[in-house]
Amino acid sequence: MKPKVVRWGIIGAGKIAKKFAKDLQTISNTELRSIASRNAEKAKKFASEFNASIAYGSYEELVADSNIDAIYIATPHSFHKSHTLLCLEQRKPVLCEKPFAMNLTEVEAMIQMAKANNTLLMEAIWTAFLPHFQYVQKLIKEKHFGEVIQLEADFGFHPQYDETSRVFDKRLGGGSLLDIGIYPIFLTLSTLGEPNSIEAEASFFDTGADSECKMIFHYEKAKAILKSTLLEETKTEAIFHCEEGRIKINGRFHEPTSVTLINNQGVTELKNFDYKTLGYSYEIEHFNQLIRDGKTKSDIMTFERSQQLIKTIDKVRTIIGLNYS
Ligand SMILES: NC(=O)c1ccc[n+]([C@@H]2O[C@H](COP(=O)([O-])OP(=O)(O)OC[C@H]3O[C@@H](n4cnc5c(N)ncnc54)[C@H](OP(=O)(O)O)[C@@H]3O)[C@@H](O)[C@H]2O)c1
Repeated sequence: MKPKVVRWGIIGAGKIAKKFAKDLQTISNTELRSIASRNAEKAKKFASEFNASIAYGSYEELVADSNIDAIYIATPHSFHKSHTLLCLEQRKPVLCEKPFAMNLTEVEAMIQMAKANNTLLMEAIWTAFLPHFQYVQKLIKEKHFGEVIQLEADFGFHPQYDETSRVFDKRLGGGSLLDIGIYPIFLTLSTLGEPNSIEAEASFFDTGADSECKMIFHYEKAKAILKSTLLEETKTEAIFHCEEGRIKINGRFHEPTSVTLINNQGVTELKNFDYKTLGYSYEIEHFNQLIRDGKTKSDIMTFERSQQLIKTIDKVRTIIGLNYS
Protein backbone atom coordinates (compact mmCIF):
# COMPACT_ATOMS: atom_id res chain seq x y z
CA MET A 1 0.00 0.00 0.00
CA LYS A 2 1.25 3.50 -0.86
CA PRO A 3 2.29 5.47 2.26
CA LYS A 4 0.14 8.46 3.20
CA VAL A 5 1.31 11.70 1.56
CA VAL A 6 2.58 14.07 4.25
CA ARG A 7 1.64 17.68 3.50
CA TRP A 8 4.10 20.21 4.96
CA GLY A 9 3.78 23.87 5.79
CA ILE A 10 6.79 26.11 6.51
CA ILE A 11 6.76 29.15 8.79
CA GLY A 12 9.40 31.77 7.88
CA ALA A 13 10.78 32.02 4.34
CA GLY A 14 14.45 32.53 5.23
CA LYS A 15 17.71 30.77 4.38
CA ILE A 16 17.20 27.43 6.13
CA ALA A 17 13.59 27.21 4.93
CA LYS A 18 14.93 27.14 1.36
CA LYS A 19 17.36 24.30 2.05
CA PHE A 20 14.64 22.36 3.85
CA ALA A 21 12.19 22.91 0.96
CA LYS A 22 14.84 21.72 -1.50
CA ASP A 23 15.30 18.45 0.40
CA LEU A 24 11.51 18.01 0.77
CA GLN A 25 11.38 17.77 -3.01
CA THR A 26 13.65 14.71 -2.96
CA ILE A 27 11.30 12.66 -0.75
CA SER A 28 8.47 10.60 -2.18
CA ASN A 29 4.93 10.86 -0.81
CA THR A 30 5.82 14.26 0.61
CA GLU A 31 4.41 17.59 -0.48
CA LEU A 32 5.16 21.21 0.31
CA ARG A 33 1.59 22.43 0.66
CA SER A 34 2.25 25.95 1.92
CA ILE A 35 4.74 28.58 2.95
CA ALA A 36 3.99 31.43 5.34
CA SER A 37 5.91 34.67 5.49
CA ARG A 38 5.16 37.97 7.21
CA ASN A 39 5.39 39.36 3.68
CA ALA A 40 2.88 37.99 1.13
CA GLU A 41 5.11 38.77 -1.89
CA LYS A 42 8.04 36.94 -0.32
CA ALA A 43 5.78 33.95 0.35
CA LYS A 44 4.58 33.92 -3.29
CA LYS A 45 8.14 33.98 -4.60
CA PHE A 46 9.14 31.13 -2.28
CA ALA A 47 6.05 29.12 -3.30
CA SER A 48 6.82 29.41 -6.99
CA GLU A 49 10.50 28.54 -6.47
CA PHE A 50 9.75 25.44 -4.38
CA ASN A 51 6.42 24.32 -5.81
CA ALA A 52 4.26 25.07 -2.79
CA SER A 53 0.52 25.11 -3.55
CA ILE A 54 -0.32 28.02 -1.23
CA ALA A 55 1.52 31.18 -0.15
CA TYR A 56 0.27 32.80 3.06
CA GLY A 57 1.06 36.37 4.12
CA SER A 58 0.80 35.50 7.81
CA TYR A 59 1.82 32.59 10.01
CA GLU A 60 -1.66 32.41 11.58
CA GLU A 61 -3.30 31.66 8.20
CA LEU A 62 -0.98 28.71 7.60
CA VAL A 63 -1.62 27.29 11.05
CA ALA A 64 -5.40 27.45 10.40
CA ASP A 65 -5.08 25.41 7.16
CA SER A 66 -6.79 22.08 7.83
CA ASN A 67 -4.93 20.38 4.95
CA ILE A 68 -1.54 20.46 6.64
CA ASP A 69 -0.01 17.43 8.39
CA ALA A 70 3.27 18.94 9.60
CA ILE A 71 4.73 22.40 10.22
CA TYR A 72 8.41 23.28 10.06
CA ILE A 73 9.34 26.36 12.08
CA ALA A 74 12.27 28.24 10.54
CA THR A 75 12.19 31.57 12.37
CA PRO A 76 14.80 33.16 14.70
CA HIS A 77 15.45 31.56 18.09
CA SER A 78 13.48 34.08 20.13
CA PHE A 79 10.25 33.10 18.29
CA HIS A 80 10.56 29.31 18.51
CA LYS A 81 8.43 29.03 21.63
CA SER A 82 5.60 31.34 20.51
CA HIS A 83 5.46 29.90 16.98
CA THR A 84 5.51 26.34 18.32
CA LEU A 85 2.67 27.08 20.73
CA LEU A 86 0.70 28.75 17.92
CA CYS A 87 0.82 25.45 15.99
CA LEU A 88 0.34 23.11 18.95
CA GLU A 89 -2.75 25.05 20.06
CA GLN A 90 -4.31 23.98 16.73
CA ARG A 91 -2.97 20.44 17.20
CA LYS A 92 -0.57 20.77 14.26
CA PRO A 93 2.57 18.57 14.49
CA VAL A 94 5.73 20.71 14.79
CA LEU A 95 9.31 20.25 13.71
CA CYS A 96 11.02 23.30 15.23
CA GLU A 97 14.52 24.49 14.30
CA LYS A 98 17.37 24.47 16.79
CA PRO A 99 17.78 25.68 19.45
CA PHE A 100 14.36 24.39 20.46
CA ALA A 101 13.84 27.65 22.41
CA MET A 102 15.79 30.26 24.39
CA ASN A 103 16.02 28.32 27.66
CA LEU A 104 14.82 25.25 29.54
CA THR A 105 11.70 27.00 30.89
CA GLU A 106 10.52 27.76 27.34
CA VAL A 107 11.32 24.24 26.14
CA GLU A 108 9.36 22.74 29.02
CA ALA A 109 6.32 24.90 28.20
CA MET A 110 6.43 23.62 24.62
CA ILE A 111 6.72 19.98 25.68
CA GLN A 112 3.90 20.43 28.17
CA MET A 113 1.60 21.84 25.48
CA ALA A 114 2.52 19.01 23.07
CA LYS A 115 1.66 16.45 25.73
CA ALA A 116 -1.55 18.22 26.78
CA ASN A 117 -2.74 18.38 23.16
CA ASN A 118 -1.43 14.94 22.23
CA THR A 119 0.43 16.48 19.29
CA LEU A 120 3.79 15.55 17.76
CA LEU A 121 6.70 17.87 18.57
CA MET A 122 10.39 17.47 17.75
CA GLU A 123 13.50 19.66 17.72
CA ALA A 124 15.06 19.81 14.25
CA ILE A 125 18.56 18.69 15.18
CA TRP A 126 19.16 17.25 11.72
CA THR A 127 22.64 15.99 12.71
CA ALA A 128 21.07 13.34 14.98
CA PHE A 129 19.62 11.63 11.88
CA LEU A 130 22.72 11.66 9.67
CA PRO A 131 24.21 8.17 9.14
CA HIS A 132 27.84 9.26 9.74
CA PHE A 133 26.84 10.78 13.09
CA GLN A 134 24.93 7.66 14.13
CA TYR A 135 27.92 5.54 13.01
CA VAL A 136 30.29 7.51 15.27
CA GLN A 137 27.87 7.34 18.19
CA LYS A 138 27.86 3.55 17.80
CA LEU A 139 31.68 3.35 17.57
CA ILE A 140 32.04 5.34 20.79
CA LYS A 141 29.37 3.29 22.56
CA GLU A 142 31.03 0.03 21.51
CA LYS A 143 34.46 1.39 22.54
CA HIS A 144 35.88 0.72 19.07
CA PHE A 145 39.23 2.26 20.05
CA GLY A 146 38.70 1.85 23.81
CA GLU A 147 37.76 4.72 26.09
CA VAL A 148 37.64 8.31 24.87
CA ILE A 149 40.36 10.39 26.49
CA GLN A 150 39.68 13.70 24.80
CA LEU A 151 37.21 15.12 22.29
CA GLU A 152 37.97 18.28 20.35
CA ALA A 153 35.19 19.88 18.32
CA ASP A 154 34.78 23.33 16.85
CA PHE A 155 32.29 25.20 14.71
CA GLY A 156 33.29 28.55 13.27
CA PHE A 157 32.38 30.81 10.40
CA HIS A 158 32.96 34.48 9.72
CA PRO A 159 29.81 36.26 8.54
CA GLN A 160 29.89 39.96 7.68
CA TYR A 161 28.96 41.92 10.80
CA ASP A 162 25.38 43.19 10.52
CA GLU A 163 23.65 44.04 13.77
CA THR A 164 20.21 43.60 12.16
CA SER A 165 20.92 39.98 11.19
CA ARG A 166 19.47 37.31 13.50
CA VAL A 167 23.01 35.94 13.94
CA PHE A 168 24.19 39.13 15.70
CA ASP A 169 20.94 40.54 17.10
CA LYS A 170 20.67 39.57 20.75
CA ARG A 171 16.91 40.27 20.77
CA LEU A 172 16.51 37.47 18.17
CA GLY A 173 18.67 35.08 20.20
CA GLY A 174 21.83 35.81 18.21
CA GLY A 175 25.38 34.76 19.09
CA SER A 176 27.70 31.84 18.43
CA LEU A 177 26.64 29.61 21.31
CA LEU A 178 22.94 29.22 20.44
CA ASP A 179 23.49 29.30 16.70
CA ILE A 180 26.44 26.94 16.19
CA GLY A 181 27.89 26.07 19.63
CA ILE A 182 24.84 23.87 19.99
CA TYR A 183 26.41 21.37 17.53
CA PRO A 184 29.68 20.56 19.41
CA ILE A 185 27.62 20.46 22.62
CA PHE A 186 25.09 18.07 21.07
CA LEU A 187 27.90 15.84 19.77
CA THR A 188 29.49 15.74 23.22
CA LEU A 189 26.26 14.92 25.06
CA SER A 190 25.41 12.26 22.44
CA THR A 191 28.70 10.45 22.91
CA LEU A 192 30.09 11.24 26.38
CA GLY A 193 26.86 12.09 28.20
CA GLU A 194 26.37 14.76 30.83
CA PRO A 195 29.65 16.30 32.10
CA ASN A 196 30.63 16.47 35.77
CA SER A 197 31.56 20.12 35.40
CA ILE A 198 31.91 22.82 32.75
CA GLU A 199 34.38 25.65 32.25
CA ALA A 200 33.56 28.35 29.69
CA GLU A 201 34.63 31.79 28.52
CA ALA A 202 33.32 34.07 25.81
CA SER A 203 33.80 37.33 23.94
CA PHE A 204 30.94 39.55 22.83
CA PHE A 205 29.81 41.84 20.00
CA ASP A 206 28.52 45.36 20.73
CA THR A 207 24.99 43.94 20.46
CA GLY A 208 25.69 41.79 23.54
CA ALA A 209 25.52 38.55 21.51
CA ASP A 210 28.54 36.28 22.02
CA SER A 211 31.08 36.34 19.19
CA GLU A 212 33.00 33.32 20.47
CA CYS A 213 32.54 30.73 23.18
CA LYS A 214 35.20 28.30 24.40
CA MET A 215 34.14 25.43 26.63
CA ILE A 216 35.72 22.50 28.46
CA PHE A 217 33.42 19.70 29.61
CA HIS A 218 35.02 17.59 32.34
CA TYR A 219 34.27 13.87 32.76
CA GLU A 220 35.75 11.37 35.19
CA LYS A 221 38.36 10.13 32.70
CA ALA A 222 37.93 12.44 29.71
CA LYS A 223 37.42 16.00 28.67
CA ALA A 224 35.80 17.72 25.70
CA ILE A 225 37.37 20.91 24.37
CA LEU A 226 34.74 22.80 22.39
CA LYS A 227 34.51 26.09 20.58
CA SER A 228 32.00 28.12 18.61
CA THR A 229 33.03 31.30 16.85
CA LEU A 230 31.65 33.91 14.47
CA LEU A 231 35.09 35.51 14.14
CA GLU A 232 36.86 32.98 11.90
CA GLU A 233 36.27 30.05 9.56
CA THR A 234 37.34 26.90 11.38
CA LYS A 235 37.67 23.33 10.13
CA THR A 236 34.49 22.43 12.02
CA GLU A 237 35.72 18.91 12.62
CA ALA A 238 35.46 16.64 15.62
CA ILE A 239 38.27 14.38 16.82
CA PHE A 240 37.85 11.70 19.46
CA HIS A 241 41.26 10.78 20.91
CA CYS A 242 40.80 7.27 22.29
CA GLU A 243 43.07 4.73 24.03
CA GLU A 244 43.73 2.78 20.83
CA GLY A 245 43.27 5.35 18.08
CA ARG A 246 41.42 8.39 16.81
CA ILE A 247 37.98 8.85 15.27
CA LYS A 248 37.75 11.98 13.18
CA ILE A 249 34.49 13.36 11.82
CA ASN A 250 35.76 15.37 8.90
CA GLY A 251 34.67 19.00 8.46
CA ARG A 252 31.95 20.02 8.69
CA PHE A 253 31.05 17.41 11.26
CA HIS A 254 27.41 18.48 11.75
CA GLU A 255 26.40 18.03 8.09
CA PRO A 256 26.81 15.18 5.54
CA THR A 257 30.50 14.25 5.62
CA SER A 258 32.93 11.33 6.03
CA VAL A 259 34.67 9.76 9.01
CA THR A 260 38.36 8.81 9.29
CA LEU A 261 39.56 6.10 11.66
CA ILE A 262 43.27 6.10 12.59
CA ASN A 263 44.59 3.39 14.88
CA ASN A 264 47.67 3.75 17.08
CA GLN A 265 49.74 1.89 14.46
CA GLY A 266 48.89 4.68 12.00
CA VAL A 267 46.54 2.59 9.83
CA THR A 268 43.94 4.90 8.34
CA GLU A 269 40.46 4.03 7.08
CA LEU A 270 38.08 6.50 5.40
CA LYS A 271 34.33 5.84 5.70
CA ASN A 272 32.03 7.48 3.14
CA PHE A 273 28.27 7.62 3.46
CA ASP A 274 27.00 8.23 -0.07
CA TYR A 275 24.95 11.32 0.80
CA LYS A 276 22.67 12.39 -2.04
CA THR A 277 20.70 15.23 -0.43
CA LEU A 278 21.62 18.30 1.63
CA GLY A 279 21.03 16.10 4.67
CA TYR A 280 17.70 17.48 5.91
CA SER A 281 15.90 14.60 4.19
CA TYR A 282 16.85 12.24 7.04
CA GLU A 283 15.01 14.18 9.77
CA ILE A 284 12.10 14.81 7.38
CA GLU A 285 11.71 11.10 6.59
CA HIS A 286 11.80 10.30 10.31
CA PHE A 287 9.15 12.94 11.05
CA ASN A 288 6.98 11.70 8.15
CA GLN A 289 7.10 8.21 9.63
CA LEU A 290 6.14 9.49 13.08
CA ILE A 291 3.09 11.15 11.51
CA ARG A 292 2.12 8.04 9.55
CA ASP A 293 2.47 5.96 12.73
CA GLY A 294 0.38 8.43 14.76
CA LYS A 295 3.26 9.08 17.21
CA THR A 296 3.43 12.18 19.40
CA LYS A 297 7.18 12.13 20.06
CA SER A 298 10.41 10.94 18.50
CA ASP A 299 12.41 8.01 19.84
CA ILE A 300 15.58 9.51 18.32
CA MET A 301 15.36 13.23 19.05
CA THR A 302 13.58 12.64 22.35
CA PHE A 303 12.24 15.32 24.69
CA GLU A 304 14.87 14.21 27.23
CA ARG A 305 17.65 14.84 24.69
CA SER A 306 16.29 18.32 23.89
CA GLN A 307 15.93 19.12 27.60
CA GLN A 308 19.49 17.97 28.36
CA LEU A 309 20.80 20.03 25.44
CA ILE A 310 19.12 23.31 26.43
CA LYS A 311 19.92 22.71 30.11
CA THR A 312 23.60 22.43 29.22
CA ILE A 313 23.43 25.57 27.07
CA ASP A 314 21.73 27.38 29.98
CA LYS A 315 24.64 26.31 32.24
CA VAL A 316 27.22 27.63 29.76
CA ARG A 317 25.28 30.91 29.47
CA THR A 318 25.32 31.33 33.24
CA ILE A 319 29.10 30.80 33.31
CA ILE A 320 29.82 33.30 30.50
CA GLY A 321 27.21 35.81 31.74
CA LEU A 322 24.99 35.71 28.63
CA ASN A 323 21.49 36.69 29.66
CA TYR A 324 18.79 37.00 27.00
CA SER A 325 16.00 38.36 29.15
N1 LIG B 1 19.58 23.07 10.73
C1 LIG B 1 20.40 23.87 10.10
O1 LIG B 1 21.28 23.47 9.35
C2 LIG B 1 20.24 25.36 10.26
C3 LIG B 1 20.99 26.23 9.47
C4 LIG B 1 20.75 27.58 9.59
C5 LIG B 1 19.84 28.05 10.51
N2 LIG B 1 19.15 27.18 11.28
C6 LIG B 1 18.14 27.65 12.24
O2 LIG B 1 17.00 28.05 11.50
C7 LIG B 1 16.38 29.18 12.07
C8 LIG B 1 16.31 30.29 11.04
O3 LIG B 1 17.62 30.58 10.57
P1 LIG B 1 17.89 31.23 9.12
O4 LIG B 1 19.35 31.22 8.94
O5 LIG B 1 17.04 30.63 8.11
O6 LIG B 1 17.43 32.74 9.41
P2 LIG B 1 16.88 33.80 8.37
O7 LIG B 1 17.44 33.58 7.02
O8 LIG B 1 17.08 35.13 9.02
O9 LIG B 1 15.33 33.47 8.31
C9 LIG B 1 14.50 33.55 9.44
C10 LIG B 1 13.09 33.89 8.98
O10 LIG B 1 12.30 34.06 10.16
C11 LIG B 1 11.25 34.97 9.89
N3 LIG B 1 11.13 35.97 10.95
C12 LIG B 1 10.04 36.13 11.76
N4 LIG B 1 10.21 37.14 12.60
C13 LIG B 1 11.41 37.67 12.32
C14 LIG B 1 12.13 38.78 12.83
N5 LIG B 1 11.63 39.56 13.81
N6 LIG B 1 13.32 39.05 12.32
C15 LIG B 1 13.85 38.28 11.35
N7 LIG B 1 13.20 37.21 10.80
C16 LIG B 1 11.99 36.92 11.29
C17 LIG B 1 11.56 35.62 8.54
O11 LIG B 1 10.67 35.04 7.61
P3 LIG B 1 9.52 35.86 6.89
O12 LIG B 1 10.11 37.22 6.62
O13 LIG B 1 9.32 35.08 5.67
O14 LIG B 1 8.36 35.91 7.81
C18 LIG B 1 12.98 35.20 8.22
O15 LIG B 1 13.21 35.04 6.85
C19 LIG B 1 17.22 29.50 13.31
O16 LIG B 1 16.65 28.86 14.40
C20 LIG B 1 18.57 28.85 13.03
O17 LIG B 1 19.29 28.47 14.18
C21 LIG B 1 19.33 25.84 11.17
